[in-house]
Amino acid sequence: MPAPVLFGPAFKANPYPAYAWLREHAPAHSHTNRHGVTTWYITRYADCLNVLRDHRRFVKDYRNALSAEERAAQPEMPPLLRLISHHILNMDAPDHTRLRTLVNDAFTVSMVERLAPRMQVIADELLDRVAGQDQADLIESFAFPFPIIVIAELLGVPPADRERFRRWSSAIVAPTADITRTLRKLEKSRPVMEDFIAYLETICAARRAQPRDDLISSLLAVEAAGDRLSEEELFSMVLLLIVVGHETSVNLIGNGMLALLENPAAQEQLRDDPAILPLAVEELIRFANPVERAPMRFVAEPVTLHGRTLARGDSVSVALAAANRDPAQFSHPDRLDLTREPNRHLGFGMGIHYCLGAPLARLEGRIAFATLLRRLPGLRLAAPAESLRWHTHPIMRGLHHLPVQWDSAENGMESRPFLSLD
Ligand code: HEM
Repeated sequence: MPAPVLFGPAFKANPYPAYAWLREHAPAHSHTNRHGVTTWYITRYADCLNVLRDHRRFVKDYRNALSAEERAAQPEMPPLLRLISHHILNMDAPDHTRLRTLVNDAFTVSMVERLAPRMQVIADELLDRVAGQDQADLIESFAFPFPIIVIAELLGVPPADRERFRRWSSAIVAPTADITRTLRKLEKSRPVMEDFIAYLETICAARRAQPRDDLISSLLAVEAAGDRLSEEELFSMVLLLIVVGHETSVNLIGNGMLALLENPAAQEQLRDDPAILPLAVEELIRFANPVERAPMRFVAEPVTLHGRTLARGDSVSVALAAANRDPAQFSHPDRLDLTREPNRHLGFGMGIHYCLGAPLARLEGRIAFATLLRRLPGLRLAAPAESLRWHTHPIMRGLHHLPVQWDSAENGMESRPFLSLD
């Protein structure tokens, strides 16, 4: 049997049989595109873990996989592209170590936890807007706006600027895995980007003069061993947070809710026992895979894996969704088990690039699932699951729309807080 196709609408609708085939028959599977670029797809849990942790042989900055001569022949990066692409997710040590250490000091768990009451208000306000209805598209009315407003709140964007911030964010949160598409899109959105950067400059100046309890103030203040973030590094970081912190969370809420809607017993279990929420969020990340494949790595020196040779310069795609359904690591991996323990999923990656926003994503998930189940009783799909359309993004896994119905008579009447945020 030929290797399965790993892109397109049919694959995206259900990638798991293809990944199961690869895990079993071709655990190091390669595909060479029409430009001669070879990508290796890694699907077994143990191999994925090894690649994510091997920062020497699998690098994020493709220039670190080039010879000295090849590197010297590389063209200069246009400044705007540099701003959106020169960030920690695309860096290797020692640059990554330096920036990640600085940012870790600003992006703390306690800063995220302090946001919880505001996040609950944001979630309730979004659902107030559908109160009185008995159906809606959950992506449009909740999953898409919720994380953008949360990021604005985290950064310290004043409420009056929220609408402008939403417009800028929507302009920059789009697939950036393909460099040609990124350049084309960037060219189109150049005026928007320039406005956004001018805005960030104003807000940074204001926070420098008068620091507040927000992430921009913390990023400006952060200092480790006499080192600080340059202004360009700070802007890149803010842009990265918006890009990676948005679509990932939209997909966690969208895919996670779909999993609950398709498993009514699990939905009931979570409604009845909110204490399982933290475990349930981990399981929904493992099962529903908001990030299907980790952003590309590049082979820095030849590697042999399952009898195949990965050559220097080849791309490597770590299929997190395949690892998260590997029966060698998880018992009954295709079963949604909201109290699964242990649950060492790779949904947030592993190693030095482990998701910086994991505490925020977990909290968003807890608040989103709890609030949706509390406010929308009798929640069910309003269209057959087979008719739902998935984005064909190369690394993300997410729905265009999630049409749902609920029992409207009780909507908004439930006053008992489902999730205590004290
Ligand atoms: C459910 C939601 C999320 C998922 C599944 C997720 C997943 C991931 C994964 C798999 C990586 C590692 C990528 C790699 O190794 O190449 C990563 C890195 C990262 N994530 Fe997330 N993420 C989520 C939400 C967020 C949020 C809300 C933020 C921030 C607002 C965020 C910020 C980051 C950053 C900055 C990195 C780069 C870390 C580094 O390179 O050192 N993520 N994320």
